[in-house]
Amino acid sequence: MRCGSGYSQDRTWSRRVQVNIVPGDAIQGKGYERMEIAVQTRPERSAAAEKALQQKLGFGNVLADEMFMMQYTEGRGWHDAAIKPYAPISLDPSAMVFHYGQEIFEGHKAYRWDDGRVAMFRPDQNAARLNRSAERMMMPSIPESFQVEVATRLVQRLQDWVPTEEGASLYLRPTMIATETGLGVRPSKEFLYFVICSPVGPYYPTGFKPVKVRAEDKHVRAVIGGTGAAKTGGNYAAGLYVQRQAFEAGYAGVLWLDGQEHKYVEEIGAMNFMVVMDGKLVTAPLLGSILPGITRASVLHMAPDMGVEAEERRISIDEVLEGIKSGRVTEAFGVGTAAVVTPIGTIAYKEEDYVITGDEVGPMALKIHKTLTDIQWGRQRDPYGWMKIVIE
Ligand SMILES: Cc1ncc(COP(=O)(O)O)c(C=O)c1O
Repeated sequence: MRCGSGYSQDRTWSRRVQVNIVPGDAIQGKGYERMEIAVQTRPERSAAAEKALQQKLGFGNVLADEMFMMQYTEGRGWHDAAIKPYAPISLDPSAMVFHYGQEIFEGHKAYRWDDGRVAMFRPDQNAARLNRSAERMMMPSIPESFQVEVATRLVQRLQDWVPTEEGASLYLRPTMIATETGLGVRPSKEFLYFVICSPVGPYYPTGFKPVKVRAEDKHVRAVIGGTGAAKTGGNYAAGLYVQRQAFEAGYAGVLWLDGQEHKYVEEIGAMNFMVVMDGKLVTAPLLGSILPGITRASVLHMAPDMGVEAEERRISIDEVLEGIKSGRVTEAFGVGTAAVVTPIGTIAYKEEDYVITGDEVGPMALKIHKTLTDIQWGRQRDPYGWMKIVIE
């Protein structure tokens, strides 16, 4: 296994680490200058990691053996930050997260480069999104610089959990839950924030192939004014019933339509949706019902450099299907952290299948996938400054 320099230094911390917070990176009502993380000693090399990485990695079926955790109490702020062994947590059955769903999370990855370095893709954006989700869900924010520092230190500690296999990575799952006890419907005054890590396998072990999705015309995931733009568990629970129906009918996912008119295409499962129409890249605007994906934002940012015009506008399912029939829509795909790009070969709507350009992966999907994955795995220069090297 390859490893970067500074390996043993970082691995054997057994102390309190002071983390300076970037000036101005304050949190609601409370400015922190410094926060402290307690860390325990860990063995030089983890036998558990070696064993875990020998098995076939899926998504989230293997968890690294350490996690970050800290607590929040109103009036005191965040406290008791520590990196410690991965273990179950004990909560009172009346903890508010179990009853009214005050929960938010994030998902991002660390990638091992061919030269042994490890880098994360835009972790600052995940930190900023977590704070936006927190605001919507009446939860406390965490200084972005501290969130990034926590992720950095955790990946450094867990560096032998970062897979070396082509296309595999270490997935980080920052999560915040309401822990105050009580059954009244009101915002909790106590929270737990933790970050767990999972080595995940390549998304396309058998190659980059188009999938079939079903546009849902009855149930909705989110509405404008609701919580669709927040990364909160309830949004995902709301989609499970429809997702199961789509899976059982042989589709890989659900293409959600807007909550008011069931007319405009919004997003797919855990991905934002894009089509290529008349050569332009078109995607739904951020009106509050869809998740502002970091991959989506990155693709829109890169589009001019790829010589592509991009448009954020409402696009109806009828316009997409008409476009497929007339040949104006030449590609459709999902974009997100998990797969980067998922090409869509067929969209089903009201019992009819619409096949896009012969069910083949289109050039735009290929180009976006290659450009982004080359940046993420350090195979190409990162002109945007998106990669944060965590292990040199
Ligand atoms: C509902 C939803 N939409 C879109 C995305 C894509 O977002 P990102 O590119 O930040 O992974 C995700 C994944 O996090 C998601 O869960």
